[in-house]
Amino acid sequence: MAEKALEAVGCGLGPGTVAMAVALEDGAEPPVLTTHLKKVENHITEAQRFSHLPKRSAVDIEFVELSYSVREGPCWRKRGYKTLLKCLSGKFCRRELIGIMGPSGAGKSTFMNILAGYRESGMKGQILVNGRPRELRTFRKMSCYIMQDDMLLPHLTVLEAMMVSANLKLSEKQEVKKELVTEILTALGLMSCSHTRTALLSGGQRKRLAIALELVNNPPVMFFDEPTRPAGGLSLDSGLDSASCFQVVSLMKSLAHGGRTIICTIHQPSAKLFEMFDKLYILSQGQCIFKGMVTNLIPYLKGLGLHCPTYHNPADFIIEVASGEYGDLNPMLFRAVQNGLCAMAVKKSSPEKNEVPAPCPTCPPVLTHLRFVSHVVIGVLIGLLYLHIGDDASKVFNNTGCLFFSMLFLMFAALMPTVLTFPLEMAVFMREHLNYWYSLKAYYLAKTMADVPFQVVCPVVYCSIVYWMTGQPAETSRFLLFSALATATALVAQSLGLLIGAASNSLQVGRLACEDSQAGMGYHVRNQGLA
Ligand SMILES: Nc1ncnc2c1ncn2[C@@H]1O[C@H](COP(=O)(O)OP(=O)(O)O)[C@@H](O)[C@H]1O
Ligand SMILES: [Mg+2]
Repeated sequence: MAEKALEAVGCGLGPGTVAMAVALEDGAEPPVLTTHLKKVENHITEAQRFSHLPKRSAVDIEFVELSYSVREGPCWRKRGYKTLLKCLSGKFCRRELIGIMGPSGAGKSTFMNILAGYRESGMKGQILVNGRPRELRTFRKMSCYIMQDDMLLPHLTVLEAMMVSANLKLSEKQEVKKELVTEILTALGLMSCSHTRTALLSGGQRKRLAIALELVNNPPVMFFDEPTRPAGGLSLDSGLDSASCFQVVSLMKSLAHGGRTIICTIHQPSAKLFEMFDKLYILSQGQCIFKGMVTNLIPYLKGLGLHCPTYHNPADFIIEVASGEYGDLNPMLFRAVQNGLCAMAVKKSSPEKNEVPAPCPTCPPVLTHLRFVSHVVIGVLIGLLYLHIGDDASKVFNNTGCLFFSMLFLMFAALMPTVLTFPLEMAVFMREHLNYWYSLKAYYLAKTMADVPFQVVCPVVYCSIVYWMTGQPAETSRFLLFSALATATALVAQSLGLLIGAASNSLQVGRLACEDSQAGMGYHVRNQGLA
């Protein structure tokens, strides 16, 4: 059995190119470029060996006759099937940086989602992991997916974000985790900004942090969706400039050379980036038009009578061919691949291992002070407004108004922070959940439990002020009952807030709810003749 553990030691940044890029970004003295390149490479590699990463087995992924179709139309009137991927076969091996290329809409993201196991229904064909049929759960635990838009919690610093990841994924001692985090941050050139909030990082740093977060448990398979292109934009306008793109791709390459299988979709790389890939898998209209070594692409196309002009980026050329700029050549290219004219190299495979992460999240609540203060202030205001009306029988309607307002306030005070903040957190949650940092249950429990103290303390503080100021009956049991009702209302409202936040995914609903509550209060106050 050719089982081969990922070398925890040997997967430091290999190529001098990355080391250079990282060293430059760090603000270190730029070395003399041409002659001393090798020296710098050795120096950096020495400093950046990952000796604390957990050992994992390397993984080869093979897919045979993979097809994928979706049902089209709205759910009540499905018209038919649309085939997004047709008959894809190939093998992605360890130690390779694999680029999935193709024109926009060719099915690159779809293909990668299927390989990563994010989509399954509608898929035909077989996916083999180290020669055995893929077991989804195990596979998801040994792979990670770095999305196009890096969703990071904006208020955490780089170091805090890394520690959260390490705490969630590893069960080592705290010191080991700290050393590991330092090691990864040094290797990825993020040490200089370790105390910077993630919201303030540059595009390249964000991408490297996204990689660093997943690197903590040393996944043998890493998927990247358009790592050089920011979501919703072209690489030219915002996000990564060519130097940052180069850093990211270099980093992926060195990760691959450490024994991992790195699969990355890339829309249209520059010639320099293009050459850094080991293997290409080029798609057009959901079918494969080329698979194999990068260096084979031009000779292969030449063999089919397609001559790439000299000084022309081969990546641009193949995209142009696929998009039909030289006539509709796709059927011919599909046939050539089907007839086995280009075959990817096949290597031996080995079984897999997996690791179990230990959950233990920490993160400071942001709105807490404000919430506490608002309960005190509103409590005092309401207390003054309804001062000593509790034991006056002629003011019984005012007393109902007071109770109604109190419940409404407590409900919205518990509901609004959740409705407003949850949609913002959801993208981060999705990324972490899909990368198997924790389960949905764990997230829900942690989120609810973390909020429980405030959902209890705030209503109790509010009740203590209002109950006595408004002169309600001075009986302990009544006061306790009132406080308990208020707390229960707050807890229910919080869950309701999560539901609304999850369903709406927009701040719009939060605003509407706010307007509703104001309208409700105004209506009640007018009806009581207190306006
Ligand atoms: N759920 C879906 N239903 C219908 N069409 C889809 C669905 N998902 C993706 N597509 C279509 O599949 C094609 C490939 O999409 P995608 O994989 O995102 O392309 P890209 O290569 O740009 O990443 C696109 O034409 C897209 O419109
Ligand atoms: Mg895409």
